[in-house]
Amino acid sequence: MEVNRLAEQAGQHAHPARCSDHSRYTLANRLMLTLLSHLRQYHEETYHHSLRVSYLVRRMAKHLICENREVRRLIRSAMLHDVGKLAIPIGVLDKPARLNAQEWIQMDRHGTIGASILHATGLFGDDEIYIVSHHHRWFGQNARMTEPRLVDAMVDLLAVCDAYDAIIYDRPYRDAQNSDWAIRQINERAGDQFNPVMADLLRCVLSEQA
Ligand SMILES: [Fe+2]
Repeated sequence: MEVNRLAEQAGQHAHPARCSDHSRYTLANRLMLTLLSHLRQYHEETYHHSLRVSYLVRRMAKHLICENREVRRLIRSAMLHDVGKLAIPIGVLDKPARLNAQEWIQMDRHGTIGASILHATGLFGDDEIYIVSHHHRWFGQNARMTEPRLVDAMVDLLAVCDAYDAIIYDRPYRDAQNSDWAIRQINERAGDQFNPVMADLLRCVLSEQA
């Protein structure tokens, strides 16, 4: 997949300066579907993972965010959070063993690449691009902020949903784990890797009937 070409084409077709807010929103949604369709062709499991994560994010967001507009942006961010994997070689994505240092460097680039693709279109808000560009680790940083921004909460939320889904589905190098095990793992890392509020919310949401 030639990601630079894809980003260039997306930017050419968007013309955001001429768009009303409504047109911009519609164009961004169309572009999202196009990107997801590329992702599905390139790496189907990442596509399904993105849909599952966005569904879980939606369930969690209902408890946190009142404004529909913010929920829609968050769901779109979740759908696109792994779009940068279009640029990661299949051999790395599907390697049936732990990645070596060089491969991790390649893999870690997917957030930045995803952000570049979205940025090139001019159709996505800075908060969405921020979410795509970070494989977020909490490390207590929000606790030091006097006024945590909404975007931080959104990234924290996306991080727990992403990790949960990654654990409960097969990876090329390991089998899927069950939901209880995944929740325990996330809770053990709450306050360090994950925002403890979001880890707790995940546990509560998963205990609800889907
Ligand atoms: Fe992911």
